[in-house]
Amino acid sequence: MQTNVLLRNVGVADSYQIETYVQQGGYQALAKVLEEGQPSKVKEVVLNSGLRGRGGAGFPTGRKWMFLPKGVYPRYLVCNADEGEPGTFKDRVLMEHDPHGVIEGIIVSSYACEVEHAFIYIRGEYNLGYQRLRNAIDQAYAAGFLGKNIRGSGYDLELSLIQGAGAYICGEETALLSSLEGKRGHPKLKPPFPAAQGLYRKPTIINNVETLFNVPFIVLNGSDWYRQWGTELSPGIKLFSVSGHVERPGVYEVPLSTPIRDLVYDICGGPKDGVPLKAIIPGGSSTRMVRADVAMEARLDYEALCDVGSDLGSGAVIVVNEKTCLVRLVARLAGFYRHESCGKCIPCREGTDWMYKILQRIERGEGRAEDLPLLLDICNNIAGKSFCPLGDAAVQPVRSSIERFGEEYEFHIREKRCMVDG
Ligand SMILES: Cc1cc2nc3c(=O)[nH]c(=O)nc-3n(C[C@H](O)[C@H](O)[C@H](O)COP(=O)(O)O)c2cc1C
Repeated sequence: MQTNVLLRNVGVADSYQIETYVQQGGYQALAKVLEEGQPSKVKEVVLNSGLRGRGGAGFPTGRKWMFLPKGVYPRYLVCNADEGEPGTFKDRVLMEHDPHGVIEGIIVSSYACEVEHAFIYIRGEYNLGYQRLRNAIDQAYAAGFLGKNIRGSGYDLELSLIQGAGAYICGEETALLSSLEGKRGHPKLKPPFPAAQGLYRKPTIINNVETLFNVPFIVLNGSDWYRQWGTELSPGIKLFSVSGHVERPGVYEVPLSTPIRDLVYDICGGPKDGVPLKAIIPGGSSTRMVRADVAMEARLDYEALCDVGSDLGSGAVIVVNEKTCLVRLVARLAGFYRHESCGKCIPCREGTDWMYKILQRIERGEGRAEDLPLLLDICNNIAGKSFCPLGDAAVQPVRSSIERFGEEYEFHIREKRCMVDG
């Protein structure tokens, strides 16, 4: 079953203009919270809804907001629109088609967190999304939804739109803050967590675009409404960006806990050209790949994907068919992490380079018998030992593919050619 809440404005003519958004019922959640005048009530409904962060880690949003230290101001809110994870393209759809929905989510969430200056940090390559947001922010200021004394409520909010410069690491929240501060996009040590000490060392809430986008709907309809979908621990609706070997790749909205089979077969039209599937990467390239037959029995929620040895991540379902060489695919992903490693810590900087070189060697037919244990050893020396989670992310495709598709690597090494395409 597909739902049509988050994507309801996609396909509507001029959906990105303020008049259309208001006609469709936009900015009503903002009107409601300003009228009620109780930020803590907004926090409470978001907490009760069980909304979890859609940027990858799935941390409960209401709980994160509760970490803000009492009485410390100014505090900031940052909307993470960097969307650099391979396979992930859901936030892009929201920003291009419904920029006012993103902005309303930011305003309502900023109000809840008593923030007077919010930021959107958008991926540098997202030109259309940037233009649509720029235009929508100007419109929101002109209409009195942003700026001083919003709609006569006494509440002030400035919203700044900042473009990244093409670095995946700047999606990691502390590196993002470094970049916003005008420094090199390097991660910072945690704790202190940003909610306690973030941008300019002030309390800062960082949430993903889709996370914030959910907030106005929850505020208008209540937490029970949100909990009609999903499970106790994974409630609500979620966007999935589906790519790879399906007939209809794209961005789809479904309740959490939808069977992967329904998404792949019913919604996306099944395997492309009928070629059987081999593997599924359910949550973006940083989540472990799963054998397709195992994945097809799983559901798309945080717990169910853990049970099959993977994660929901950012909801980027990458579908891989039997004609794909996994060694080549993983070598390609390893090349991405090698390129994107910021170089600050040795395990990640050196380890991603070594993994890439060994995988390429195997792919070229020059693999050695000791390469698989060597790759696993490198994985063990990166995972949990790098400065930030980029290192852990880089390990996931390598380790999971060796563990679950080891025969393809062994064939490559033994026969000096590919099992799939010779
Ligand atoms: C290497 C790396 C890249 C990340 N990229 C993004 C990103 O592009 N967008 C995003 O929302 N979160 C990204 N994250 C997760 C953020 O650090 C952070 O957890 C998230 O923005 C919090 O928002 P949420 O609680 O709403 O999910 C990334 C994390 C890592 C380690």
